Amino acid sequence: MSWEIPLTDVVFDEEDLEAVGECLRSGWLTMGPRTKAFEAAVAADRGFAHAVAVSSGTAALHLTCAALGLTAGDEVIVPAFTFLASVNAPRYVGATPVLCDVVSPAAPLIDVEDVRAKLTPNTKAVIAVHMLGYPAAMAELRALCDRHGLKLIEDAAQGFGVDAPRGDVACLSFFSKKQLAVGEGGMVLTDDEAVAAKVRLLRSHAMTSGTWDRHRGHEDSYDVVGFGFNFRIDEPRAALGLARLPKVAAEIEHRRVMVRAYRERLGAYAMFDDAAVERASHFAFTVLFEDVETRIRVREALFAAGIQTTRYPAVHRLTEFERYATPLPHSAAAADRHLALPLSAHTTLEQVERVSSVLLPAAAGRA
Ligand SMILES: Cc1ncc(COP(=O)(O)O)c(C=O)c1O
Repeated sequence: MSWEIPLTDVVFDEEDLEAVGECLRSGWLTMGPRTKAFEAAVAADRGFAHAVAVSSGTAALHLTCAALGLTAGDEVIVPAFTFLASVNAPRYVGATPVLCDVVSPAAPLIDVEDVRAKLTPNTKAVIAVHMLGYPAAMAELRALCDRHGLKLIEDAAQGFGVDAPRGDVACLSFFSKKQLAVGEGGMVLTDDEAVAAKVRLLRSHAMTSGTWDRHRGHEDSYDVVGFGFNFRIDEPRAALGLARLPKVAAEIEHRRVMVRAYRERLGAYAMFDDAAVERASHFAFTVLFEDVETRIRVREALFAAGIQTTRYPAVHRLTEFERYATPLPHSAAAADRHLALPLSAHTTLEQVERVSSVLLPAAAGRA
């Protein structure tokens, strides 16, 4: 499909390409000096003491659950309006995800009151998702988790660049559509040295040395001290991430300018409030309609105009997750009534204008 306006647009500059080229020319492809430098740079940028790069955001969440010692019998509270990986992460270690609702269809972020309502003696952790790039209510969640002795995990896969009170661990994704995109990749950020060490070990089969250590002659073999995985990132992607990192803040600011422009035109359908827009890192721009019929009509009009849109389902209504389903009306309504419009670091005002000019009459039933 060739879109007139695609949902997203990933553009690499000469410096990005050169960083990857230099890495390939070096002949060193697996975790090594560029991965280490990428970890240090992201840790400094995000203000965490430790960063461990992994193969995906899903791997980051999985290893976080493992490193925090979550296991069978433990319950982990997760909002239903999220990407499914947030819900699978506790499952990978045998723990049970407990789905909670979001605040409202127009502000579909984890509802602290519903988290409180879902606490049981088995609750061990909460996963706060910065959905669409909007920060979850971290101060309230931090206070709640501290009061009940729970771990607070930030799923920041869509929230790179969000500045909010910290969880015990934050998980990033570098998947293609993300603010810091390298293809596939993820990272675990924490101030807890023991958690970082555990994640570092588990990402590479719990081996006591890596290929890079052996290449440099530091070790000639290894021991295996746990039951780990191959969740390593590779050097070309670390090199790309390192090259792109200094540009991301300006790109997020560009996204914010485009979001403000969309909101000026589409105010009646805008989600979140103006203050939230200033705090968000704008993974996606979404609008909310009064009913499903309007959303379908608008999507069809945009499609016919060559404008790509997407929608995020609520996890509790996906077949695999029916076993965890419970009534979650705000998550269901958000999923049914929203539409994500084109937004990237390269969206132009003309594109915002064009999308809005197709959307408005369609939403009003005049298309
Ligand atoms: C909220 C959320 N969590 C986790 C993930 C998983 O990240 P990855 O695709 O890098 O495994 C994603 C990816 O889309 C996501 O949006």
